[in-house]
Amino acid sequence: MTSIDSLLHEYRRFPPTPEFTKNAVATPALAEAAAADQLGFWADQARQLHWHTPFTQTLDWSNAPFAKWFGDGTLNVAYNCLDRHVLAGNGDRVAFHWEGEPGDSRSLTYAELTAQVKKAANALAALGVVQGDRIAVYLPVVPEAVIAMLAIARLGAVHSVVFGGFSADSLRARIDDAQAKLVITADGGWRKGKAFPLKATVDAALDQAPEGTSVEHVLVVKRSENDVEWTEGRDLWWHDVVDAADAEHEAEAFESENPLFILYTSGTTGKPKGILHSSGGYLTHTSSTHRNVFDLHPETDVYWCTADVGWITGHSYVIYGPLANGATQLLYEGTPDTPHPGRWWELIEKYKVSIFYTAPTAIRSFMKLGREIPDAFDLSSVRVLGSVGEPINPEAWIWYRDVIGGGSAPIVDTWWQTETGGIMVSPLPGITSLKPGSAQTPVPGISIAVVNDDGSEVEKGSGGLLVVTEPWPGMARGIWGAPDRFVETYWSKFAEQGYYFAGDGARLDDDGDLWLLGRVDDVMNVSGHRLSTAEIESALVSHPMVAESAVVGADDETTGQAVVAFVILRADHAESQTPDEASAALRAHVATSIGAIARPRQIFIVAELPKTRSGKIMRRLLRDVAEGRAIGDTTTLADANVMQLISEKFAAVPATED
Ligand code: PRX
Repeated sequence: MTSIDSLLHEYRRFPPTPEFTKNAVATPALAEAAAADQLGFWADQARQLHWHTPFTQTLDWSNAPFAKWFGDGTLNVAYNCLDRHVLAGNGDRVAFHWEGEPGDSRSLTYAELTAQVKKAANALAALGVVQGDRIAVYLPVVPEAVIAMLAIARLGAVHSVVFGGFSADSLRARIDDAQAKLVITADGGWRKGKAFPLKATVDAALDQAPEGTSVEHVLVVKRSENDVEWTEGRDLWWHDVVDAADAEHEAEAFESENPLFILYTSGTTGKPKGILHSSGGYLTHTSSTHRNVFDLHPETDVYWCTADVGWITGHSYVIYGPLANGATQLLYEGTPDTPHPGRWWELIEKYKVSIFYTAPTAIRSFMKLGREIPDAFDLSSVRVLGSVGEPINPEAWIWYRDVIGGGSAPIVDTWWQTETGGIMVSPLPGITSLKPGSAQTPVPGISIAVVNDDGSEVEKGSGGLLVVTEPWPGMARGIWGAPDRFVETYWSKFAEQGYYFAGDGARLDDDGDLWLLGRVDDVMNVSGHRLSTAEIESALVSHPMVAESAVVGADDETTGQAVVAFVILRADHAESQTPDEASAALRAHVATSIGAIARPRQIFIVAELPKTRSGKIMRRLLRDVAEGRAIGDTTTLADANVMQLISEKFAAVPATED
């Protein structure tokens, strides 16, 4: 178990500055209170919301693992995100500065957003939407996406947002699984300088319905000049029905456990799982973590989370957490490099963004392009940086802090999942002394352990499986239509202990801080030694020549698995040496930084890595290449040509023998 040691030889520490601590939202007293009385802490956090009927019971775990939080309380989620801020006198505060990819922009105050949501709720109600109905949302990142989600929530209905990059087949499967009554879409959305069609994809999804569809209406937002086909009686323009709707709408109270949304996520099988979240607990968890983890000062901060609303990060940290907290946000429709590679930094300068939350994969892409691009903009407004979605390697962490955070912004590396609803592990700015590459500690109110296969806790300095040992308010309430699959996937491995099994490997360092090692299926076993893909990737990207890397464990007759790496070189190194020279140097570098056991059997120098549209590297495809198989399903790739290029490369480079 020496394999992770190079990561753990990360001795740099970044304690909070006294000035930051002085004004920090999260305090040691808060963390201590949570540690002393977890349920009491969550009840206190929940009481910061508006309850139509106050709850008297915090947690009912009698039907574990199906939790009830604040079960006898009633609330309206949209009222909490909107009306109550207006009633408190903050109606003139901007909720969203929205910027379209072509450069058009709109700002919506809390009062304006509330008025829009009330109209949309009336329009949906007029179309027959009632509590419990499922509504599919297939929209670009436009204000109407936010308005639609909140209007659905306001009626006690359930949204199922499908990321705009998914195909007609995927959309169809999600509509059918949830039996959605309505689809809300747009005539197009801007991406990379073009308006991509969405309505046409909805048409294709619904046309493939020989046995009929649950969908009664398709509501279409006008965003582009794309021509659209029209099915009379079924299709309606958003502006026709919403603009004409009544502006008054009283928010009804719903039970705390009223379902709020379904969000589909990939599992180990081919069929996506519809992760179900409910109202009071989810809103408590997301608003509490949003305040404490990002150090939100809603009167002065401008917060920007770059996630698409189609992913859980968009649900929890663009819509529900920030709006419940009355935050002012930036919402951006397009890609980071359109029309120029400095677009994100230009937006930070324009809107004086102070809290910025993005994914390591984006940070590494920017590193690859060079710091001259962000350096050309004034990023001095940035005071807190966040990272999510994958482990952030120390090199990217330092670059992020230095180049985007002016050398001083704390970075919160937040570990969580679609299933957890909100952030579970993260440093707290103002309290935690930061360690580049480590997500560090469970957030207040959350209990995490790293365990062996038998459920016993590992010693400090060892690795194992990450589990959540106590229920938490944002936890998934099930898989839509598949309660048994929910129990089996997450709760059966440690049924005896009652732990939630996250599917991630983690290591506790000598201080008890957590280092996430990726999914357990990405952990390799080479000659009986456990190696982490994240660790070898970190070693590779620590070499000045490397911009990005992905490592997979490939089947190997001799060693069980072997390490195969795919590497993108920095532009200035790509020309100066042959791929063989670069690969030899990097194999030696990994051997030096981690140990000979970790030396990749092969390193492929590639121009791109296969990534999903959300930026996750598709290791499964790289494993296919590394193991000489035909490449599997590439439909979720952002760029399908990438695999073609990589597999051609593979054929050209023989395996290296030592
Ligand atoms: O493997 C972990 C990784 O992303 C998985 C969850 O993916 P998803 O449900 O799509 O949600 C992503 C956004 C919350 C986890 O099982 N992951 C997420 N955040 C981190 C992470 N791995 C390491 N460090 C993180 N900060």
